[in-house]
Amino acid sequence: MTDPETTPDGATNMRRALRTHGQDTDQQHENNQSTAPVLGSRIFAGTQGGEIIVWSFETYEEITRLQAHAGAVLGLCFSPDKDRLFSCAGDAIVNVWSTQSFDRLYSIYSTFDIGDVFCVTYSSLLDTVILGAQNTSLQWYDLSQKDIVPKPSLKSHPSLRRHRFFDSRGPGGITATRSNAAQPDDEDGQLLEIRKSSIIQYAHFGYVYCMALVKSPSFSEENVETLVTGGGDGAIKLWKVQQRDGLVSLTQSGVFENGDESILTIALKDTLLYAGKLEGEIDVWDLDARQRIQTFKAADVDILSLAVGYGYVFAGTANGRAKIFERHRRKTDWKAHDELILASALTENNGTPYLVTGGNDNCVAIWNLADFFGKQPSLTRQSNEVLLQSLSRFISFRTVSSRNEYNEDCRQGASWLRNLFKRFGAQTELLRTDSRHNPAVYACFKGKYPGGKRSLFYGHYDVVPADNDQDRWKTEPFSLHGRDGYLYGRGVSDNKGPILAAAYAIADLVATQQLRSDVVFLVEGEEESGSRGFEKLFKDNKHLIGDISWILLANSYWLNNDFPCLTYGLRGVVHATISIESGNTDMHSGVNGSNATHEPLKDLVTLISRVTDSSNHVSVPGFYDHIRPFTKQEEQWYGAISETLSQGDAMFPNPESLKSKWREPSFTVHGFTTSSSGVATVIPHRATVKVSFRLVPDQEAIEISEAFYQFVQSEFANLNSPNKLHIELGDPVDPWLGDPNNGLYQTLEEAIIEVWGLQKPVSPAKEGQHRRSVSKSLRRPLYIREGGSIPVIRFLEKELNAPAAQLPCGQASDNAHLENERLRLTNLYNAREIFKKVFMDLPDR
Ligand code: BES
Ligand code: MN
Repeated sequence: MTDPETTPDGATNMRRALRTHGQDTDQQHENNQSTAPVLGSRIFAGTQGGEIIVWSFETYEEITRLQAHAGAVLGLCFSPDKDRLFSCAGDAIVNVWSTQSFDRLYSIYSTFDIGDVFCVTYSSLLDTVILGAQNTSLQWYDLSQKDIVPKPSLKSHPSLRRHRFFDSRGPGGITATRSNAAQPDDEDGQLLEIRKSSIIQYAHFGYVYCMALVKSPSFSEENVETLVTGGGDGAIKLWKVQQRDGLVSLTQSGVFENGDESILTIALKDTLLYAGKLEGEIDVWDLDARQRIQTFKAADVDILSLAVGYGYVFAGTANGRAKIFERHRRKTDWKAHDELILASALTENNGTPYLVTGGNDNCVAIWNLADFFGKQPSLTRQSNEVLLQSLSRFISFRTVSSRNEYNEDCRQGASWLRNLFKRFGAQTELLRTDSRHNPAVYACFKGKYPGGKRSLFYGHYDVVPADNDQDRWKTEPFSLHGRDGYLYGRGVSDNKGPILAAAYAIADLVATQQLRSDVVFLVEGEEESGSRGFEKLFKDNKHLIGDISWILLANSYWLNNDFPCLTYGLRGVVHATISIESGNTDMHSGVNGSNATHEPLKDLVTLISRVTDSSNHVSVPGFYDHIRPFTKQEEQWYGAISETLSQGDAMFPNPESLKSKWREPSFTVHGFTTSSSGVATVIPHRATVKVSFRLVPDQEAIEISEAFYQFVQSEFANLNSPNKLHIELGDPVDPWLGDPNNGLYQTLEEAIIEVWGLQKPVSPAKEGQHRRSVSKSLRRPLYIREGGSIPVIRFLEKELNAPAAQLPCGQASDNAHLENERLRLTNLYNAREIFKKVFMDLPDR
């Protein structure tokens, strides 16, 4: 992946990559080739393996993958009405596809071997497909004749011909591999054979690499289109495409001699023709005047792809650099792909301009040009694109609460978030009661009807560090990267993405004047450190928060990657740090070690070993006293879950282990440290261990904490050790159990059903569709609990006397707290929609 430093001038501030092939981007460098045009809300890429992959521009998720050719796909183009897609390939075939159904409509080929088909275009005026081939020919097929001419005999189909003498080197020296084609069948669409009279042999003295059709009336006679072709011979040729006596014909009408370097790619803008050449020059021709108006050296290596628009020329080179020129002046350039940039396209999605590039590194990359053009995203139309830009910024603050060196980053992150809320129209404050702790962000959005119910959204902008496992991150943790429909970055799922989904949901409601009742955001900066200082901060500012009816959180995950869930339970936690010290210095184990020595570490290990027995039963007296019995309703939910589980996703943990994680307490030993750091001849004078209990309803954290303290003291007393014991207890966190039957959960459930389309399966191939049907059998979200903890959730419920609910935004594979933390775009966008509905529809309590 590209590091952000290589994207200059803040241009293209975020790369979204789509993998065309395989799991890793670093494999098979010369073996994957992409051609990537863009159609409205979809991106089409042709691969070296002969596939055409279609992605949603909105979510970057794969919509479909067509096994399109038995050779590398070398060119793609659309009909002007965008209904049809034309693909050409190393298998000597041009295929015509429906962009709606993705069916193959026709398969067009020549009667003899023409080698690779490098380029294809389509004249809608004459309903004619034109192709340029490796054997230097131009060929065409008039689709209006397809049912008139006799059906071709299968014998001449390229996949059945035995001798092939072409072993091509395409643009950039790529060898187009041809796999053994299967026999043509129904799936191939109607087979159409090019007639002998529709061929111009030796159209160039070299491969026909690229072509384009000019419709400009100032240049062409009325109703006559001109085809422009670029060849391996360095020539650009013009051809009139006409109908004569009912037959389409091509006649050469001009030639531009450009020197010897092959013309590898051309792009047209009005009457200007841009030709990218071998060795890095770009020629600019005026088609009206038939004059070359400029030549400039754009790179030291081959120009493999060009796109022209917005007054700029975009070039992709053979060493992976994307370059932007204004006339001949280079405005910026950056490393976009590992090696070859085989395709470049310009497009706009939701008002944002993009450059899309396809490389031979198995990636299609999407570059946001808004910053480069200096276009500020409008504040009224808060598209998902604007949400992404905000998230990208939010992630860039290293808001690690557990390290003092990040205090300033935390303050800046908080202040940025506050300003975002302010821009959305909230009344905001940075709340801080103690200079040692990060501030919390307070924002209050006023509803249209004051005095009604008021809801609270609680979240945390702080994150856990990302340097413990830094080399396992595939991209820089504190910059947002998009790949294959996922956003990667520390905190993207826990909890920055969900916070922004909720914030933008409110912004939508405020902008459209649909916010009826007040919504308060309280986003703290110490959650990952046990919400240090939160109680005081909350109590000091209770007047700001007011009378709250419902508490909403979005800081948990689905059970697997497919089924939307609602979380109604979290465990509590008690952390403890226990030290045993001898009061002496470290000693030599040979000189001083004897059976009379009470080693602190041995004491500590013995002590810890007494906490649980061999079946993990906790020996602390009273530990299990208040655990709730398993209810009937709970049993039903587990039933629903195991039914869903049985649909067989490998990611699913089994229901028994879930049950034990969600409703059974546990004890964990996190790690021992000693004063000697483990040197093999030393008896450390001090040993420390960090442990924790996860607790379930109705264990009271404070009671468990005290019971544990007593237990450790009395067990230590039994050791009769002269050493000193020290116990430090963390802030106790109570377990939490929501009420899935209350109005908050019901509203959440209805919103989830609607946004995720749980009741009405939707075809995923529908244009611009990111709400997908997730399961035939899932009619409502799964109600789940979690093994993790959120320190303040129970506290907030008690303080505000209001029930809380958790909307899990992320999937099981989000990897929160771990390397390559991520969040699926679809989940982010749907969370925004869900919050929108929920904030609108919440009932009075
Ligand atoms: N989002 C998590 C809580 C969580 C974890 C929910 C796993 C669902 C599944 C939260 O940010 C977190 O990390 N909590 C800590 C709390 C601790 C620092 C007191 C935890 O659970 O360890
Ligand atoms: Mn966390």
